[in-house]
Amino acid sequence: MSAFSSLHCPPSYSINGGKNRSFISSASPRFSVPAKAKVFVQSPGNSHQNAVLMQDGAVAAKVSPVEKETPLEKLKGDLLSVTSSKEWDEKAGFDINENESTVSITVVGASGDLAKKKIFPALFALYYEGCLPQHFTIYGYARSKMTDVELRIMVSKTLTCRIDKRENCGEKMDEFLKRCFYHSGQYDSEENFAQLDKKLKEHEGGRVSNRLFYLSIPPNIFINAVKCASTSASSGNGWTRVIVEKPFGRDSESSAALTTALKQYLNEDQIFRIDHYLGKELVENLSVLRFSNLIFEPLWSRQFIRNVQLIFSEDFGTEGRGGYFDHYGIIRDIMQNHLLQILALFAMETPVSLDAEDIRNEKVKVLRSMRPLQLEDVVIGQYKSHTKGGVTYPAYTDDKTVPKDSLTPTFAAAALFIDNARWDGVPFLMKAGKALHNKRAEIRVQFRHVPGNLYNRKFGTDLDQATNELVIRVQPDEAIYLKINNKVPGLGMRLDRSNLNLHYAARYSKEIPDAYERLLLDAIEGERRLFIRSDELDAAWSLFTPVLAELEEKKIVPEYYPYGSRGPVGAHYLAARYNVRWGDLGVEQST
Ligand code: BG6
Repeated sequence: MSAFSSLHCPPSYSINGGKNRSFISSASPRFSVPAKAKVFVQSPGNSHQNAVLMQDGAVAAKVSPVEKETPLEKLKGDLLSVTSSKEWDEKAGFDINENESTVSITVVGASGDLAKKKIFPALFALYYEGCLPQHFTIYGYARSKMTDVELRIMVSKTLTCRIDKRENCGEKMDEFLKRCFYHSGQYDSEENFAQLDKKLKEHEGGRVSNRLFYLSIPPNIFINAVKCASTSASSGNGWTRVIVEKPFGRDSESSAALTTALKQYLNEDQIFRIDHYLGKELVENLSVLRFSNLIFEPLWSRQFIRNVQLIFSEDFGTEGRGGYFDHYGIIRDIMQNHLLQILALFAMETPVSLDAEDIRNEKVKVLRSMRPLQLEDVVIGQYKSHTKGGVTYPAYTDDKTVPKDSLTPTFAAAALFIDNARWDGVPFLMKAGKALHNKRAEIRVQFRHVPGNLYNRKFGTDLDQATNELVIRVQPDEAIYLKINNKVPGLGMRLDRSNLNLHYAARYSKEIPDAYERLLLDAIEGERRLFIRSDELDAAWSLFTPVLAELEEKKIVPEYYPYGSRGPVGAHYLAARYNVRWGDLGVEQST
């Protein structure tokens, strides 16, 4: 049998229906997943993901882990004693055929928060869905001393099943955990990576070995880790890929230096720069919406669109991450990457095809057509302490890891422009903030007024209230809705604003995968569409570097806003300068 013939992962996971997949799925018939059994990862801090979507589309209460006891407590003796994937294969009755390939995934920085909360759970969800190859091994790599069993216990604590009707989830967890191992080593030790290499080879059992390294470590140790991984632990006969998480530098110069350093050890096509917003369902859907519906694309230009708003807000501060955050600030943390990536997908021309290079070429063109951001088009803010209902919420500078006199923005609003034929003069407004009154990420497209509107008199003087607005709510509670004017039924002629509404929870009974699942699967498949190419990164930094330097050189003081508020009032003045009203301020219903 060909090593490439059996795919169990649902085709919907991949834009091309899995055509790049080069492995046999791990879901052998004995482990096949019943249609109704879905497993997901509980994602702290994401309220939507705490919701349980029932088969009938209703949203039920919170997630509870599959079992009260941890999977490890349930594990049978033989599980804990499994020492290699080869042994596991033998126990499971798989033949070892040297023509087959295997994937080894090493999570470098395995004991960190990202690894525990996102990466291991995403890998488990992929395993559960039958999306991992039949032969795979997962290695945690970090400095702390830990045994395989301790790693399994650590990982098991963050694995949950999301749907009540999950079947054999506990069993799948046990199977998954058996494939997880641990190697303790320094991030800059070629010797330690060589030991890892030896262990990986044992697991790979002579098959074609493909290796994926996920660098879940601080940027100052990226290069050392990449150097050691590439010189001492790359695959000898298959591919080696490295996933790196932002921050990719702090400005154009440091980002270029990082890229140059990475390229000493890796080719561009081995580097997978992750921006997890690209893995979000509604961001991925943007292109489908635009390019497969006749009604949107003809309106997608300066001719019909008045302004576009990209809004990110969180209802919690930098709790626990102040040390990292203070070095970067909200513009680097959210705008330069997550919001700008969404903007590029939103504004790009139709790509020649859905191939990664065609899409990324179009995104780069948008970024390179953008006007560098001017200081007068930026408003920055920082949250201060606020007491509400007897509870006192901390100021940003109350964080012990943040200097008391820090000017780092925790909020920013900016007006950006794309100087090309399609978007000339259309303000793209961005707003991102922490410790605001709600948690959401959305795109708002405000259309122009209807010329000579027969019904103008019905709207009073505020014509803005009557313009169409398309809202793409990325999270939470995913939805796409279009605000239209409609006649209120009855004998009179009264108009109101209504929504044509695609509310995901009501429309789809299928729960939405975590962004990391999609991105990990794509990296394994070699699908680069959702990863950032180095020229995209350069263009993104060129846009923000001058203004970031100016803010820091001039020590611009942020406007202080109370924790839990709607942010600094300066954001409204900025929008007003371009005749824009933020769309997220009104009370509205999308359901
Ligand atoms: C990260 C930022 O990239 O995205 C965090 O560093 C932010 O500051 C997070 O909280 C938001 O991600 P999500 O998926 O929870 O919206």
